Amino acid sequence: MTPLHAVIASQCQMRVLSKCVAGALVLALVHAGVVWAQVPPRPTLAYSPTRAPHAMVASADETASRVGLEILRRGGNAVDAAVAVGLALAVTWPRAGNLGGGGFMLIRKADGLTVAIDYRETAPATATRQMYLERDGTVTPDASLVGYRAVAVPGTVAGLALALRKYGTLKWQEVVEPARRLAAEGIRVGYPLAFSLRQEGKDLLRFSESRRILLHGGKFHEEGDRLRQPELAQTLRRLKENGPRDFYEGETAQLIARAMKDNGGLITPDDLKNYRAVERKPLVGSYRGYQIITFPPPSSGGAVLLELFNILESYDLEKMGQASSEKYHLLIETMRRAFVDRVQFFGDPDFADVPVAGLTSKAYASELAKTIDLTHATRSAELKPGRPNDFEGRQTTNFSVVDRWGNAVANTYTLNGAYGGGVILPGAGFLLNNEMDDFTSKPGEPNQFGLIQGEANAIAARKRPVSSMAPTLVLKDGNLQLVIGTSGGPTIITQILQVVVNLVDHGMSIRRAVEAPRIHHQWFPDVVDYEPYGLAQDVMAALVAKGHQLRINPNVPYLGDVEAIAIEPGTGIRLGSSDPRNANARTLGY
Ligand code: DON
Repeated sequence: MTPLHAVIASQCQMRVLSKCVAGALVLALVHAGVVWAQVPPRPTLAYSPTRAPHAMVASADETASRVGLEILRRGGNAVDAAVAVGLALAVTWPRAGNLGGGGFMLIRKADGLTVAIDYRETAPATATRQMYLERDGTVTPDASLVGYRAVAVPGTVAGLALALRKYGTLKWQEVVEPARRLAAEGIRVGYPLAFSLRQEGKDLLRFSESRRILLHGGKFHEEGDRLRQPELAQTLRRLKENGPRDFYEGETAQLIARAMKDNGGLITPDDLKNYRAVERKPLVGSYRGYQIITFPPPSSGGAVLLELFNILESYDLEKMGQASSEKYHLLIETMRRAFVDRVQFFGDPDFADVPVAGLTSKAYASELAKTIDLTHATRSAELKPGRPNDFEGRQTTNFSVVDRWGNAVANTYTLNGAYGGGVILPGAGFLLNNEMDDFTSKPGEPNQFGLIQGEANAIAARKRPVSSMAPTLVLKDGNLQLVIGTSGGPTIITQILQVVVNLVDHGMSIRRAVEAPRIHHQWFPDVVDYEPYGLAQDVMAALVAKGHQLRINPNVPYLGDVEAIAIEPGTGIRLGSSDPRNANARTLGY
């Protein structure tokens, strides 16, 4: 007997007449091949998220989450905690946490004010659109990915300092100190860090400081080792004592400029001195009555996310079912269309006109929805020509914070590749990004994520490369309900989409919504990435029959590391969920 038969039989035996009759009806429909609508589950403790009444931090690393929690307990606000977590991750989670990279911080104050702090890296002043091309016009392999020439002017220190100065309550020294101490006293190398350094640190081997510090001179750190980073501790001490401008105009700036000059990099003292983090207006859209607040250009993430939501609004996903082939087909077709626009239209808004209002309008989305055939896959080549390629590793990190007053921060930052371009700055102990690869090296040529990029994203002096990072907030009736972000290059956008759909359309708990398998399509390559065990056999067969190509990407089998905090309506309880895809991640609250 199936579990369903058993339940119904017992209701009939117990003479629960209405349920017995209803059950019999359901069985009749099932046997007739009719799919029933999903019944919302009754309350259960299964898949419970982390709960806390006041405040919460979700990050990719337990030690960093603990730093944030301590700040919150001491009375710091969400921005204070976020800045301290950002600095701590530079010590404890070096593959993405950073001083030498850049990112986006989305802040919502309890009074409703929202602001997007853009501390994306910029191209050095002498960067040119052909800088990664050979004489014959071909792209020089690895040039935008490894070493000093791949580095864009870092924004992290400026961005965190700006956020703290305008929206925090603690002193800079107080939020730098926990990170400094961790670098000086050392951290225990957990299995995820040891594994990652061995598996993903190959470029670190090429640079002597990186090899010495992070790879134990080539012997590799084992789980349980202590990793001390005295040079990084010195840098953090200088930042603490001299203030954040030390990075751009002080001794740290001199170390960067000297190493660049000695190693063929482009960043000069002027590039550093001229770098500024900027405040932008967040994008605001909606999905089925929920308000979505997300990151504006130079992120493509927020606008593409809103475009995806707008297209999906024309369909009843709840009725389709959480994991049906019908729903997956629709998601894929929606993603395919929105990513065409990503390629075409996105660039640094200070350099290119990005038609954000049109891209995120409901009317435009319903035009796009009309082009979707619910029975057949569109071939990407028919939408617009491009060239397929494989992705590679994806290493970025998001952390989310909510404090006891209801202030919230979603912050996504990155070195781009795992451990950036592999270079630890000699004498300064921190890794440098390889964010130049996010520019269009050559229109039509895929980057490390297999993303084809457009003219609007060509390299130019002081320009910011387009990003997919999309820290996002969801509100209902003016009340904060979700703080979310993730890693994963272009999959960032499609992951956030699916988690929110799981919550809004399928009524899942935040933990279940984060854990549920995800898929990704980005126009080119014209394949659907799915996660191991993520699609049932018959669903896969139905998708293939519609004309989709499916694969598990061997380089990136699992998509992302969502760090999310939901707020329970009514009680205000913080419900956190770190992604089980990252064994190192932890949500802590009080
Ligand atoms: O800004 C971007 O879109 C990329 N540099 C992000 C890289 C990334 O997410 C790597 N992954 N985990």
